[in-house]
Amino acid sequence: MGLQQRNHPPPLLRSRPTYLLPSIVSLSIFSLAALLLYKVDNVILRTKTLAGHNLDPTPWHVFPPKVFDEEARRSIAYKAFQCSYLTCPSTYSLAEQRQQQAFFESSSQVKQCPEVFRWIHHDLEPWTKTRITTTHIAESKNFAAFRVVIVGGRLFVDLYYDCVQSRAMFTIWGLLQLLKKYPGMVPDVDMMFDCMDKPILNRTEHGSLPLPLFRYCTTGDHFDIPFPDWSFWGWPETNLRPWNEEFRDIKQGSRAQSWIQKWPQAYWKGNPDVFSPIRQELLNCNHSTHWGAQIMRQNWMEEAKSGYEQSKLSNQCKHRYKIYAEGYAWSVSLKYILSCGSVTLIISPKYEDFFSRGLFPKKNYWPVSSTDLCPSIKFAVDWGNANPSEAKLLGKRGQNFMESLSMDRIYDYMFHLISEYSKLLDFKPSPPSSAQEVCSDSLLCLADPKSKQFLERSTSSASPTPPCKLQNADGNLFRNWMQQKKKAINDVETMKAQKQPAG
Ligand SMILES: *[C@@H]1O[C@H](CO)[C@@H](O)[C@H](O)[C@H]1NC(C)=O
Ligand SMILES: *[C@@H]1O[C@H](CO)[C@@H](O)[C@H](O)[C@H]1NC(C)=O
Repeated sequence: MGLQQRNHPPPLLRSRPTYLLPSIVSLSIFSLAALLLYKVDNVILRTKTLAGHNLDPTPWHVFPPKVFDEEARRSIAYKAFQCSYLTCPSTYSLAEQRQQQAFFESSSQVKQCPEVFRWIHHDLEPWTKTRITTTHIAESKNFAAFRVVIVGGRLFVDLYYDCVQSRAMFTIWGLLQLLKKYPGMVPDVDMMFDCMDKPILNRTEHGSLPLPLFRYCTTGDHFDIPFPDWSFWGWPETNLRPWNEEFRDIKQGSRAQSWIQKWPQAYWKGNPDVFSPIRQELLNCNHSTHWGAQIMRQNWMEEAKSGYEQSKLSNQCKHRYKIYAEGYAWSVSLKYILSCGSVTLIISPKYEDFFSRGLFPKKNYWPVSSTDLCPSIKFAVDWGNANPSEAKLLGKRGQNFMESLSMDRIYDYMFHLISEYSKLLDFKPSPPSSAQEVCSDSLLCLADPKSKQFLERSTSSASPTPPCKLQNADGNLFRNWMQQKKKAINDVETMKAQKQPAG
C-alpha cells in the first residue's frame, strides 16, 4: 500500500503529461490551422480573376470599378479561386498535335489569306531588326492590363489591371478557342495586352525603344499592334452575339427590302455620349430632308430593359446609307454597319482596327469628311440616289468584305499575327510565377450566367482545314495602297467641291 502510495505522483504532476500536453498540442494545431485558414482565406479573397476580382481599373483610362455583391463576396471568391486553380484538364497530347500538323501539311486546301493580312508585316516591322527582348516585354508591362504567355499549347495569364465590362474574359476566350482550333500549331509566345480603347505608344515619343503592345486598334502614328476585339466572340453587355451569328442575321435582315425599297437616306444609331466630338456633331445632321440623314440615340439601359428588341442589328438595314462614326476611339460597330450591304459612309477615321485597313474608299465604302460633316453626308446621299447601281455595288462590296472575314479567317489572322510575332522573340517564353493557367473550363466556371451563354456559343473545335497562307512582306505595297486611298478620298472631295458653288 505504502509502496503504491509513494509511487503515485502527486495529482498535479500526473495531470501535466496526460492532459496538459495534448491540450497545448491541439491548441497550437488549432491556432495553426486557423492561421492557415485565415491566410488561405486572405489569399482567396485577394485572388485576381479574369472576371475582374481584386483588380483596379487601368490608371490610364479610369472607369467605375466593378461591384461584386458584398454578401456573396466570400462564396464568389472561393468559386473564383476554385475556377482559377482547380479545373484545367491536360491539353491535346503531343501525338494528337503531331497528327493534326501532319494532316495539315498533306492538305491541298491551302488558300491564300485575304489581302488585309499583309498588315501583320507592317505592324511587326519595328522589331524585325532589333527583335523583341525581355527588356521590351518588361517595358511594355507599364502600359499593359494583362500578359498572355502560351507555352506548349497551354495559356497563362498574368493580370495587372481590370478591363471594362467583359473584355478581358472574351479576349482570352478567343485565344483559348484558337488553341483548340489549331492544336499544337500556335507557337510559344509572350504578349502584353491593353484592353482600353486608345492606342498609347506614340511613334515619335517611343521611337528610341518601340514597345510591342497588343490592343484593339491603332493609328499610323502608333506602335500599338491591333488584335481582333472581344466582340467577335460576343458582347453580353450589349447583347451582341458571336460574329458569325450576327453577320448571318444582318445579311438575312438586309434582304428584307430591295435596294429601291430601302430609305434613300443615311442612318446612324448609337451612343453619342462617349467623349466623341464627331458623334456630337453628327446630332446636328439629324434632318431627313435637309441633310438626308436620320440620327438616332441608342440608350443601352432602356434597351436592356426592353430585351434589346429595338437594337437588333438585323432590323437596321432599312436605309441605303449607313453612317460609321468613331466613338472614344475606334468602334466595334463598323463590322455590323458594313454587313448591311448599304453604302457605308465612313467619317474620316483617326483609328484603324485590324481589318478596317483593308477597306478602300469608293470601292467598298464612301468617305465622308469630318470638317464639313452634314454637307458631306448630304453629298454622299445625293450621289448615291443619282447613281443607284453604283451605290448598290459599293454596298454589296462592303458586305462581301465582311463576309470574307468569317470566324475562320479571324482565327487565321490571330494565328499568323502570333506566329510572326513569336518569330521575333529572342528569348524562350515561360510564364511568370504570378501567372495563372486558364483553359476553356476554368474560364466558363468564372463567367456569370449570361456571359457563359455567349461564350459557349462561340466555342471552336479542331479545324478540318489548315490556316490560310500568309503572303510575304512587301513594303512598296503599303505605300501604293496609302497613295491610292488618298487619291480616292481627294476625288470625292473634288466632286463635292464642283457640285457646290465656291463660297
Ligand atoms: C506624338 O508625340 C508628338 C511629340 O510629343 C506629338 O507632337 C504628336 O502629336 C503625338 N502624336 C499623337 C498621334 O498623339
Ligand atoms: C432625330 O430626328 C428624329 C425625327 O425628327 C427624332 O425622332 C429623333 O429623336 C432625333 N434624334 C436625336 C438624337 O435627337
